[in-house]
Amino acid sequence: MIIDNFNRVHNYLRISLTNNCNFQCLYCNPEEKISEISNKKIMTKKEIFEISSFFVKMGVKKIRLTGGEPFLRKDFKEIISSLKKLNVEIGITTNGFFIDKYVDFLIENNIKIINLSLDTLDEKKFFSITKRNFLKKILKNIRILAKKNFYFKVNVVVMKGINENEIFDFIKWAENLPIKLRFIEYMPFKGNKWTWNDVFSYKDILNKISEKYDFEKIEDEKNDTSKNFFISKNKVKFAVISSISNSFCETCNRIRISSDGQLQNCLFSRQTFDLLGSYRSKKNIIPIILKAFNEKHKERGGLTEFINFEKKLQTETGRKMTNIGG
Ligand code: 5AD
Ligand code: SF4
Repeated sequence: MIIDNFNRVHNYLRISLTNNCNFQCLYCNPEEKISEISNKKIMTKKEIFEISSFFVKMGVKKIRLTGGEPFLRKDFKEIISSLKKLNVEIGITTNGFFIDKYVDFLIENNIKIINLSLDTLDEKKFFSITKRNFLKKILKNIRILAKKNFYFKVNVVVMKGINENEIFDFIKWAENLPIKLRFIEYMPFKGNKWTWNDVFSYKDILNKISEKYDFEKIEDEKNDTSKNFFISKNKVKFAVISSISNSFCETCNRIRISSDGQLQNCLFSRQTFDLLGSYRSKKNIIPIILKAFNEKHKERGGLTEFINFEKKLQTETGRKMTNIGG
């Protein structure tokens, strides 16, 4: 088992399949060009399977595939087919663009855990956030998922001055959909020019919603990163993810691997461990995994004070959302 010094059992593996994305979201990948990782450095489907199987032997019960945009991997289907042999739950985080193409495959393979990112319901704003004109297609793909009986999460990164005025629109929109809305506090990553002023906090979000709706707190799932709520009037479930104003590190069970096989013990950590390099040179990767989690900080990669938070995450780090995948 992968247990750190704070008795947290790490049983949830998140693998970024590619750092490529067909969108260019301003909070994630605002630069013109994604720094390309050469193909040789990217984990092959065989390596993904073999490295994952080590983790499964060490207690991992759930694997989420992220990106960039995971459906951009040409061998996506083969990756899923091989991971299925590991008998773990498999989830996907996606921008939703390729859902129409893959929905039947997801059903055939019993992949039910889908997180879809959507930050606005307004076409112009969609373009200004993602640099693409795909809102109609994404909304259509969401209806396809609904029709095919998926229950899924829609992630909304709330940015002050950009989309915080759409919170009510999202709630209204969710009324007739089998989804849980998750409002996420905007986080700093390399290249996204985050400042404190851009954050619409957990408190701000709840205050805003209470202007119009009564809601009640409902139980959070074990290891959940979100605080969950229910609006009984319209049966909408929503959650808030407050990584900035209120961390949820105490119950963290997450392990992250970038597409080039670098292990990261925390979303906010600046240190990575070269799993793929060791694996390719036929070294035993288990001690590396154990070392990585032995060094895991109690909270947000060691950034407990907010002031350090801003300076460090904006300047010194190589952390990019397109590599980590959330
Ligand atoms: N702040 C908060 N959430 C982010 N995501 C991506 N970048 C950021 C950021 N800067 C979220 C997106 C996506 C998930 C992968 O991570 O909503 O759903
Ligand atoms: Fe792509 Fe998702 Fe990043 Fe947007 S948030 S650029 S959709 S990986």
